[in-house]
Amino acid sequence: MSDSLTITAGSNSAELPITEGSIRATDLRAIPTHDGPLTSFDPGFVNTAACHSSITYIDGDAGILEYRGYPIEQLAQHSTHLEVAYLLLKGELPTADQLAEWDKLVNTHRFVHENVASFIRAYRHDAHPMAKLMAAVASMQTFYPSSRRLDDPGARDMNIVRLIAKIPTMAAWSYRHSIGRHFVYPNDELGYVDNFLAMLFQSQQRVYRPDPRVSRAMETLFILHADHEQNCSTNAVRSVASAGNDVYTSSGAGIGALFGPLHGGANEAVLKMLREIGSKDKVGDFIDGVKNGRTRLMGFGHRVYKNYDPRAKVIKKSTEEVFEVTGVNPLLEIALELEKIALEDEYFVKRRLYPNVDFYSGLIYEALRFPPEMFTVLFAVPRTAGWCAQWLEGVTDPEQKIMRPKQIYTGHRERSFVPMDER
Ligand code: CMC
Repeated sequence: MSDSLTITAGSNSAELPITEGSIRATDLRAIPTHDGPLTSFDPGFVNTAACHSSITYIDGDAGILEYRGYPIEQLAQHSTHLEVAYLLLKGELPTADQLAEWDKLVNTHRFVHENVASFIRAYRHDAHPMAKLMAAVASMQTFYPSSRRLDDPGARDMNIVRLIAKIPTMAAWSYRHSIGRHFVYPNDELGYVDNFLAMLFQSQQRVYRPDPRVSRAMETLFILHADHEQNCSTNAVRSVASAGNDVYTSSGAGIGALFGPLHGGANEAVLKMLREIGSKDKVGDFIDGVKNGRTRLMGFGHRVYKNYDPRAKVIKKSTEEVFEVTGVNPLLEIALELEKIALEDEYFVKRRLYPNVDFYSGLIYEALRFPPEMFTVLFAVPRTAGWCAQWLEGVTDPEQKIMRPKQIYTGHRERSFVPMDER
């Protein structure tokens, strides 16, 4: 017989089944909410599982991350971003023929409707590229109304391909607009990552050919960022999708969530923090400020990882490869000192705060001459693969319902309207 949990409140009691999976969970739907005022209260969903999922596995205590059962370290070493996208979406690694077909399919859909170029051009020159990307992605629904046919598997798959194919183009254009450069169109001869780099950095005169070490580092960063189970942006994607929304509208919401400094915006915040600290000898004072609650150590801490984030380990290694090409980012010295002090300090040790994925990625992006506003965009492009896989799993899951939490109301009741002259 499987375990259960009995909850008693006054004369109400309920037997809640416990389901076993990667975590043990009580099925709160079984609480008889209609008979008595009993529900759960969990701001920030700290202890709430909202779905079953077979895409990404995390063991935060052990520092383990797997996509469809494959360890992130192996994927980062041997795979490509498009292969990982296939794995996330379809559940299995592709054969050579399947991968060739998939690459070709995605690569033929990189071009974006010219009207998208027009409205990216219409934004103010100083608009944040992430805000432009969010609007561009959400607008894709207007070009592909078939995306609303959630019960049509062909339409679902086609629109996922379009989104994964086109997001690098829209991201690159959002950036080029910020620096007042002409838009570069996709180049069929280049792979997914190299084509993205070319659309970002190609000048009019020369054909852009990235250094293979830079390409590989970007490919690795893309793989590491491709999915991370039910994080804030994925939850936003699933929540919007649960109302019956297409992959573009749902991913637009995901980009909005990722924009936040506590989520994808943290890598931008890390660079800002390192610059403000300014030199290695100021690290001690900064750490004191963090411990006094004046500020946070950005790029540290994670809701799930209570150990070194496995992605941060891989990225830290990639920094060495990239710095061979670009020269060492002088902020690295400050970052290493921060990490050293924080990993030994009682405040961080007690709270189990370790470097997360954003701690070192910004240093690489800056060495590659990306401006800080682009860092979150560089997170959104690969994360789109994960959002699409999570969106698909959500909209095809018979267990799912429109996501609608309850509240505990604490305001006034039954007040009589007061006329203006009596207030
Ligand atoms: N610096 C200093 N103290 C921290 C930090 C930090 N970066 N993170 C957490 N704490 C403290 C926090 O003050 C609290 O202390 P106390 O128990 O004394 O009140 C304790 O640790 C628990 O923190 P929390 O805010 O309850 O933890 P959370 O799970 O709600 O927050 C987090 C997770 C990632 C939002 C948080 O650690 C944070 O703000 N980190 C900095 C921002 C950052 O690097 N974000 C990127 C996350 S990884 C990429 C992604 O998923 O987007």
